[in-house]
Amino acid sequence: MNDSICLQKKQNINIGSCELSINSMNESALVILVFNTFSNFEKDYNHNRLLTDTQSIGAAIQNLILAAQEFELGTLWICDIFYCSSEICSWLNRKDELVAAIAIGYPDQSPFERPRKTLVEVTEWMY
Ligand SMILES: Cc1cc2nc3c(=O)[nH]c(=O)nc-3n(C[C@H](O)[C@H](O)[C@H](O)COP(=O)(O)O)c2cc1C
Repeated sequence: MNDSICLQKKQNINIGSCELSINSMNESALVILVFNTFSNFEKDYNHNRLLTDTQSIGAAIQNLILAAQEFELGTLWICDIFYCSSEICSWLNRKDELVAAIAIGYPDQSPFERPRKTLVEVTEWMY
């Protein structure tokens, strides 16, 4: 486990599902790191732009995950990297903003489909 995450754990700071995520990354064949290359550099980068770019990046990640599935690869979308993003960026000498990681590998399990809320529960129709 990364030093900073160990320290946060020792200090009883919530580290989300970090341990699970680290295991998945260790077991995967490949980890893709996704950066927003604009947010730390553009002068007038504002909240609206951040929301827009984050949606674009999310759609790109979703496409990547669906494409991987076509090749029968398993993926895990990981945001727990936020708990150690400064270490990752300094290790890679990246000045842009780390947004997500995607672990990709050959699945060794086929879990049951998770329960889903019904359409009625997640939509509000305006008349
Ligand atoms: C934006 C986003 C971030 C996620 N970050 C993590 C993560 O850091 N660690 C992890 O184990 N799973 C992470 N996941 C995976 C979810 O925990 C869950 O396994 C996945 O979304 C599939 O379940 P669902 O279809 O019910 O959403 C993330 C998923 C999304 C969409």
